[in-house]
Amino acid sequence: MILVTGGAGFIGSNFVLDWIAATGEPVVNLDKLTYAGNLANLAALAADDRHRFVRGDLCDAALLERLFAEHRPRAVVHFAAESHVDRSIHGPAAFVQTNVVGTFTLLEAARTWWQGLEGAAREDFRFLHVSTDEVYGTLGESDPPFTEATAYAPNSPYSASKAGSDHLVRAYHHTYGLPAVTTNCSNNYGPYQFPEKLIPLTIANALEGKALPVYGDGRQVRDWLYVADHCEAIRLVLERGRPGETYNVGGDSERRNLEVVHGICDALQSVRPRAGGYRGLVAFVADRPGHDRRYAIDARKIRGELGWNPRESFDSGLAKTVRWYLDHGEWVARVRSGEYRQWVETNYASRSAA
Ligand code: NAD
Ligand code: DAU
Repeated sequence: MILVTGGAGFIGSNFVLDWIAATGEPVVNLDKLTYAGNLANLAALAADDRHRFVRGDLCDAALLERLFAEHRPRAVVHFAAESHVDRSIHGPAAFVQTNVVGTFTLLEAARTWWQGLEGAAREDFRFLHVSTDEVYGTLGESDPPFTEATAYAPNSPYSASKAGSDHLVRAYHHTYGLPAVTTNCSNNYGPYQFPEKLIPLTIANALEGKALPVYGDGRQVRDWLYVADHCEAIRLVLERGRPGETYNVGGDSERRNLEVVHGICDALQSVRPRAGGYRGLVAFVADRPGHDRRYAIDARKIRGELGWNPRESFDSGLAKTVRWYLDHGEWVARVRSGEYRQWVETNYASRSAA
């Protein structure tokens, strides 16, 4: 079996569902169930023995030791993290704790386990660390996209904490020989994304006729990757990625934020028409401090070595995503109660209109 961390979050839950459907191999899923973790994402596996859920913290060394001994995983896929840039600006401590200390604790447990293995089990063991393109910093409009050789220059507490975790993973390979691989991917979107991130927030607000907050001038660029394409990339890297290597994963879909928000308005208008349309709900608000201008991924390495290509275009992925949120109003309503309201107050109340 494999050990997945953060498998109740957005990408992790998509991965667990996809992994069990594609391979049938059992998963032990360690997740702390922070505000971002949601077992409802995994409801389809509730009666499936191939999914074992364990609620716990990455920073709990004794728990990790027990999990390795009990489940004897042949690989680790590490998603668990604090993942939202705006939250890292309001409260960076949790990011250092989970992303740096948590990754370190997991690496130590994995190293101890792996060093006790012999023969093929030791040779075949893998530690796959899921990271982000944000570690490379920001690009100008005409700069070439990030490659695996781009120097690290993280700009937010979130990306700095992810960069720290990447360096630890690199060091564990270099120093101890741990067969680790890192993926650095661009902005994911799709089913089960918590509506604090741009795409689900925009869809949810639009459906309620609320303002659609666009930071600054809305001309920042992100490279959008449909989550199912990302899950497929992770499966390939786990199977055939070379230990010690990093692989960039991107959707080949660079868009300005305002284009994304307008795209959502138009997609909604075609399936759930609103008098006057949705675009009029756009509200420019104060910018994110230290806001990175542009991210773009050069994915030639994973294409060339592993034959991976994204299957979705941005238009097809966005149409599927809008459809999913329309069909899952109850999921959205549930995750937007409680803590979410407090976050919206913290992040948006202080942003005067720009
Ligand atoms: P998410 O915030 O939706 O989910 C994170 C999960 O980790 C949650 O289920 C949460 O409960 C769990 N978790 C948090 N702290 C934990 C701890 N201390 N111990 C155990 N579990 C803990 O995140 P996501 O968007 O699914 O991102 C998954 C990974 O992919 C992260 O490492 C993130 O940095 C990376 N990533 C995300 C994106 C994106 O666009 N979402 C892009 C690039 C990289
Ligand atoms: O690039 C990969 C990263 O993508 C991941 O590592 C992060 O975990 C993930 O959260 C995401 O980070 P971003 O900061 O790019 O995602 P977010 O959805 O928060 O914002 C996308 C863009 O939209 C960004 O330029 C900020 C802007 N934005 C965001 C929100 C929430 C707005 O204009 N208005 C908003 O209300």
